[in-house]
Amino acid sequence: MGYTILKKEELIPGQTTMMVIEAPQIAKKAKPGNFVMLRVSEHGERIPLTIADCDREAGTITIVYLVVGKTTAEMNTLQQGGEFMDVCGPLGRPTHIEKSGTVVCVGGGTGIAAMHHIAKGHVEAGNRVIAIIGARSKNLLLFCTELSSFCPEVRIATDDGSEGHKGFVTEVLKDILETEDEVAEVVAIGPVPMMEAVCRVTLPFGTKTTVSLNSIMVDGIGMCGACRCTVGGKTLFACVDGPEFDGHQVDFAELKTRLWQFKKQEEESMELFSKECQCNGR
Ligand SMILES: Cc1cc2nc3c(=O)[nH]c(=O)nc-3n(C[C@H](O)[C@H](O)[C@H](O)COP(=O)(O)OP(=O)(O)OC[C@H]3O[C@@H](n4cnc5c(N)ncnc54)[C@H](O)[C@@H]3O)c2cc1C
Ligand code: FES
Repeated sequence: MGYTILKKEELIPGQTTMMVIEAPQIAKKAKPGNFVMLRVSEHGERIPLTIADCDREAGTITIVYLVVGKTTAEMNTLQQGGEFMDVCGPLGRPTHIEKSGTVVCVGGGTGIAAMHHIAKGHVEAGNRVIAIIGARSKNLLLFCTELSSFCPEVRIATDDGSEGHKGFVTEVLKDILETEDEVAEVVAIGPVPMMEAVCRVTLPFGTKTTVSLNSIMVDGIGMCGACRCTVGGKTLFACVDGPEFDGHQVDFAELKTRLWQFKKQEEESMELFSKECQCNGR
């Protein structure tokens, strides 16, 4: 028996999709920061996706994904009522959440969805959360309404200035760090260059900074070594030791190199899939 898609919504047409999946066992245990390994069909690869939200009573989890290659494109061909062959989780260590004061949560691109779940956890723990979300333009911003429903302070940055601050999330963050009395932690989730830039901004302030690493994963349970990363000079596995780590200790250069290591095969796979879609009229 598969995992049924109860709702599918294109948040940004052709680019970013949200799905609500029936998965009661996962929903029962899922915590902010956890992810699932998901497979579309028997011959498909497993890919990791963050649990962007969960509803224990309804027995559902929410995922939000950016279409970047073969598997995410194949996922986009599934419709409401369709099924995933398997969804395994919750995996990874959940976000460490405790009452600590002011927490700034920074999200970029699809990372905003994952950040939203973590921000909600911090609000529930009694922390004051300042959320900063960024995108190239207003129409690419995600989860504004959802975030504003529980977080009174949502700051926006767009590259073209169509909404909020014209520029990067890091500029808004720097302003907050300079004006706020005390920020206990900064959490950043999004593209690797964004997380790296956030760490550069927080380092001189000595602010604890947590990032979520999107390393390539194969099994997601610590057996294959694919998600190997270096944190504080130690070799760790993002799937079982993370995916969240102290951003000031992460070797981002290595992470970026490892993310590109299968580029040729990924392009070939996408090309084959596109041809197959044309033949099948999808
Ligand atoms: C813990 C974790 C949580 C993630 N959460 C999300 C999320 O919520 N939403 C989202 O859009 N993306 C998320 N990602 C990234 C997502 O897994 C990749 O975008 C996806 O695997 C791409 O597969 P593809 O076949 O469509 O693209 P491909 O063309 O195969 O790959 C495109 C790029 O995606 C990355 N990638 C490819 N295969 C994997 C893999 N098996 N594991 C990890 N990265 C891979 C590589 O950088 C690659 O260059 C997450 C990654 C991790 C590690
Ligand atoms: S994905 Fe295999 S060890 Fe982490």
